[in-house]
Amino acid sequence: MPLLEVNSVSASYADGVEVLHGIDLAVNQGEMVTLIGANGAGKTTTLRAIMGLLRAQGSIKFDGVEILGRETPEIAKLGISMVPEGRGVFPGLSVYDNLRVATTPWIRRGQSAAEDLDRVFELFPILAERRKQLGWSLSGGQQQMLAIGRAIMARPKLMLLDEPSLGLAPNLVEEVFEKLRSINEQGVSILLVEQNAFMALEYSRLAYVIERGTVSKQMSSSALLDDEGIKAAYLGG
Ligand SMILES: Nc1ncnc2c1ncn2[C@@H]1O[C@H](COP(=O)(O)OP(=O)(O)OP(=O)(O)O)[C@@H](O)[C@H]1O
Ligand SMILES: [Mg+2]
Repeated sequence: MPLLEVNSVSASYADGVEVLHGIDLAVNQGEMVTLIGANGAGKTTTLRAIMGLLRAQGSIKFDGVEILGRETPEIAKLGISMVPEGRGVFPGLSVYDNLRVATTPWIRRGQSAAEDLDRVFELFPILAERRKQLGWSLSGGQQQMLAIGRAIMARPKLMLLDEPSLGLAPNLVEEVFEKLRSINEQGVSILLVEQNAFMALEYSRLAYVIERGTVSKQMSSSALLDDEGIKAAYLGG
């Protein structure tokens, strides 16, 4: 049974125009899966639908449970966390506080977040070094690490990432992907949307191509890297 199973999901924004027309995809336990597609194809909307951030039709099962129609906090509590495009770091909060705000559900249940913080700081030593620094003062790469760290604080089984490499220098892009690999190896499944398709396909085993609101292709990343049509369309020829 896949960890995440998206079946025939369609969705519209408030203007009523349907932008997803029956998305089908699955992420198995322990996998890192990439979603690629042109601008406006519906990648972000697919992640938002999974996270319960817009009204959708169809079926989205997580861990065997139907989550379509549930509220976002409930979906987060079940074990999905999202790293949005643009990172969403709180500029006026310290690194430490940016991480702590993501721990509320655990603290409320009387559990300590100390281990989660340790785990994030172990994964991202730079965040430990800069723990007192305010969010705005971090570099783009450090903000991305912080956004990923914050998602980890919620103890996810599945992480959704929207263009984590956007705007990062090439050496940092590789570092971000290496971190994602470590997180994945620690047992967190990953669904990744990426413009940097080459890099994403190198790090994932399975990939889906979204075109105009539907999944047009599903294949192993290595096969996709060899696909002439895909190369021309998404990988710069
Ligand atoms: N808030 C919104 N209201 C109305 N339409 C929207 C909204 N956000 C996105 N859309 C439309 O939905 C479609 C899919 O957008 P989406 O952001 O999911 O694409 P994407 O694949 O993530 O693109 P990009 O690569 O540019 O991030 C586009 O036609 C877009 O114009
Ligand atoms: Mg997008």
